[in-house]
Amino acid sequence: MNSTHPPLLTLKDVGKEYKSRDMTSTEALRNISLNIVAGEILAIIGPSGSGKSTLLRIIAGLDKEFTGEINRVTASEKPSKKSLPSTGFVFQSPTLLPWRTVRKNTELGLEGSNLTRSEIDRRVDDLLALTGLADFSTAYPHQLSGGMQQRLSIARALAYDPPLLLMDEPFGALDYITREQLQDDLLRIWQNTGKTIVVVTHAVDEAAYLADRVCVLTSRPGKIRAIHDVPLPRPRTLDTKSSIEFAKFQGVLREELKDAGN
Ligand SMILES: Nc1ncnc2c1ncn2[C@@H]1O[C@H](COP(=O)(O)OP(=O)(O)OP(=O)(O)O)[C@@H](O)[C@H]1O
Ligand SMILES: [Mg+2]
Repeated sequence: MNSTHPPLLTLKDVGKEYKSRDMTSTEALRNISLNIVAGEILAIIGPSGSGKSTLLRIIAGLDKEFTGEINRVTASEKPSKKSLPSTGFVFQSPTLLPWRTVRKNTELGLEGSNLTRSEIDRRVDDLLALTGLADFSTAYPHQLSGGMQQRLSIARALAYDPPLLLMDEPFGALDYITREQLQDDLLRIWQNTGKTIVVVTHAVDEAAYLADRVCVLTSRPGKIRAIHDVPLPRPRTLDTKSSIEFAKFQGVLREELKDAGN
């Protein structure tokens, strides 16, 4: 992925200040200019408090109180603030409805859409197959492992078929083995769907393993410290993880995080 691919979204000079009632304010982001390239996986890393979640919420359109511009660029259309792409969002801890089955949680976003019952059923079947949950469609969230709950969160986020999937430390609460499995699941889902994915993570190994590009933020206010093309071929496998290039690239990211004021 590089600049020859069209941007799905362009951020220009995005800044964010949180104002509290006692008139104090926190500058969370400053001068964020960034293209999100169609079809890429972009990882965002940075120290705690560097504005990663804030940035993701702004990209998602969940937070509209920011300065600067965010534009979706399409071939036929001029950039415009209104035409933000629809996005799916996966949070660090799954926000599933405990009284609904796996199937019913997945179709949540489709209720009220103009799809017919059989179209919804077909879509949900596809998503459960894609996320490896087909055998658990009648289970309830509390009957699932943490990893399965996160896969269900991914299925639900994809229900609308959004071009852009945003993930905020999606595997942060999982044990190491489950986390590695979910990383491979995510890469498989990405390959099968062609989605554009922006993933926030604390873990440099996760960023390096998943991403086409890694954006490093500085500590507060979050600014772009660097954006790297990941120098690792795809498909990424266990061999990737034992390669010298993988170790070297992680070293570069770690240095930058240290400089970024971790
Ligand atoms: N609703 C809010 N009101 C006021 N300040 C906020 C609010 N949300 C975040 N902040 C502040 O903005 C800054 C960035 O927060 P944010 O949650 O985006 O960081 P982060 O990089 O996601 O951190 P972490 O890695 O710990 O999740 C922090 O200083 C935080 O205290
Ligand atoms: Mg956060």
